[in-house]
Amino acid sequence: MPENSGINEFRTLLSDTGRCRVATLKRDGRPQISTVDYCWDGADLLRFSTTADRAKVHNLRRDGRISIMVDSPDGASYAVFEGTAELTPTAGTTDDATVEELVDVFRRVQGEHPDWDEYREAMVADGRLVVRARLERAYGFIRPTSPGGANATELPRLHVLVASTRPERSGPAIADWITAKAKESGLFDVHLVDLAEFELPLLDEPNHPAARNYTKDHTKRWSASVDAADAFVFVAPEYNFAINAALKNALDYLFFEWHYKPVGFVSYGNTSAGLRAQQMTKQVVTTLKMLPLNEAVAVHYFGNHLEDGRFVATEQHDGAAEAMLAELRRVAEALAPLRAGN
Ligand SMILES: Cc1cc2nc3c(=O)[nH]c(=O)nc-3n(C[C@H](O)[C@H](O)[C@H](O)COP(=O)(O)O)c2cc1C
Repeated sequence: MPENSGINEFRTLLSDTGRCRVATLKRDGRPQISTVDYCWDGADLLRFSTTADRAKVHNLRRDGRISIMVDSPDGASYAVFEGTAELTPTAGTTDDATVEELVDVFRRVQGEHPDWDEYREAMVADGRLVVRARLERAYGFIRPTSPGGANATELPRLHVLVASTRPERSGPAIADWITAKAKESGLFDVHLVDLAEFELPLLDEPNHPAARNYTKDHTKRWSASVDAADAFVFVAPEYNFAINAALKNALDYLFFEWHYKPVGFVSYGNTSAGLRAQQMTKQVVTTLKMLPLNEAVAVHYFGNHLEDGRFVATEQHDGAAEAMLAELRRVAEALAPLRAGN
């Protein structure tokens, strides 16, 4: 990855929560640098809590420009995000909007607090506020993937997508199985992604996705997720002999984000094992310049393989999954130069 690539590639170095270094501008022009724990919305908003008397807050009140640096766990890759910061008012009462947002930030970064009343009082006493940094551009370096590399950050990033979104669905049980298989294989940096969590309405963007001019937060989150992946496994049902609508809708939302990414299928159904949906999805994904694999897992009468909500694979399922994952890795690597120039 060359320096000064687009912001989307560098987003892969951000997590939902993590630690980063923040640079603001002192009055004399030198950078003021400190470390904070942040939460990120998956798109362009990064937030952290601080107190009103800190140097970075004084700096930001004078000049909202902010730079945020993160690096990979092995230190081999780094990204600097440049943006503009907005400050909430300082916490004034235990139930004002700033304290509500501080509660939200704390929950995302650290989970539940043992005593929220005490936390709220401390926020007011400390004079805390939230810094909201809008990320606008990025530069840095991402170490290229090396085949067979031992470090997860060097492996192609695989998103196992649960394509069914309905309540009480069976998809997650099957997705858990293939996610575990993919992790065991050591071929990928594996992430389970649940389409339901993105709560995508029927496509509601005014612009064609090729313009990448997204107006809705749900689209920005979905775009960031798909962008981060190098390869996909779609764990997908068949509805009325066809692709399920939620998956088709999710595919339609984006364009460049899908380009040059291979996709393997784990389809499931009754007599047809979801194969009609699989074939139909291939027609759509090739239009998005994805590369669907022949190697696939097709689960007939999937209900017969569920025990206490867990998918119990046969030898054939395991064998098909292993062949599909090996091919997915080969193709993901072969397409890497095309993705880099995308
Ligand atoms: C709207 C709808 C249409 C369905 N159509 C098919 C079908 O064409 N072929 C099939 O094998 N199963 C079909 N089924 C049964 C699904 O295989 C079964 O409900 C499965 O659990 C769906 O996956 P999910 O639970 O992850 O959503 C259909 C189910 C629904 C809800």
